[in-house]
Amino acid sequence: MQLGVNIDHIAVLREARQINDPNPLDALGICKLSGANQITIHLREDRRHIVDEDAKNIINLSALPVNLECSINDKIIDIVCSLKPHRATLVPENRAEVTTEGGLDVKSNFAQIKKTIKKLKEHEVEVSLFIDPNKEMIELSKKLDVDWIELHTGSFANTYAMLYSGLNKTHHTIEELDLNREELLKKLNKSIKEIKKISKNASKLGLKVAAGHGLNYQNVNLISNIKQIEELNIGQSIIARSVFVGLEKAITDMKKLID
Ligand code: PXP
Repeated sequence: MQLGVNIDHIAVLREARQINDPNPLDALGICKLSGANQITIHLREDRRHIVDEDAKNIINLSALPVNLECSINDKIIDIVCSLKPHRATLVPENRAEVTTEGGLDVKSNFAQIKKTIKKLKEHEVEVSLFIDPNKEMIELSKKLDVDWIELHTGSFANTYAMLYSGLNKTHHTIEELDLNREELLKKLNKSIKEIKKISKNASKLGLKVAAGHGLNYQNVNLISNIKQIEELNIGQSIIARSVFVGLEKAITDMKKLID
């Protein structure tokens, strides 16, 4: 299983003080030595963590391929084309959100996404679409001839956290759930089945399948066991653990779990 380490949260910590420490660039060598396969970053329109200078330096200096998450906003895509990361993952963006709360609506934004993919491919950037695990989104992604799809595992992860780590029912990211234990368990099993089924469908269609969002040391095996999923992009849980055990151990622990 390939592991993309999302290092945005190092920049989140830096921005809390608006100084230059910690520097996400310092993570590149550690990620590589610890067995990560890819560096993932998100250049958000509001530049709340990774800023243009970070993206430029990370892409230029990383020995690992860089997967740059971004919205389909024309100005952002122009920047991505000039930076030429290995891959661009197109994600929905909403200024008020705490994190990326759902997959890209490929149906409503079909024309804009098509134009964006064409432009990125002209600049030799591989393209992935971050989508919810549903059949229609897969079929539309296939029509758009993308290289990868990344399945949004946020709903699965949120349900898991409510069942097993006491996450509050009114937790507002991804969705609001007011379910009892039995209902949560049903929902969790249903979402795992759905992710499995959709991964199979996508792989049959010739799409490479990645997954990410909310994956951690407790829940990751339920997703990493799915044969068709080739890559996981994980940020929050790895950077959170690194505060206590260091980045190298946080990454090697995750690698051991998913391999
Ligand atoms: N993949 C994508 C497309 C994302 O937007 C994010 C969050 O930035 C992640 C993976 C990583 O999610 P997390 O930080 O919850 O592990």
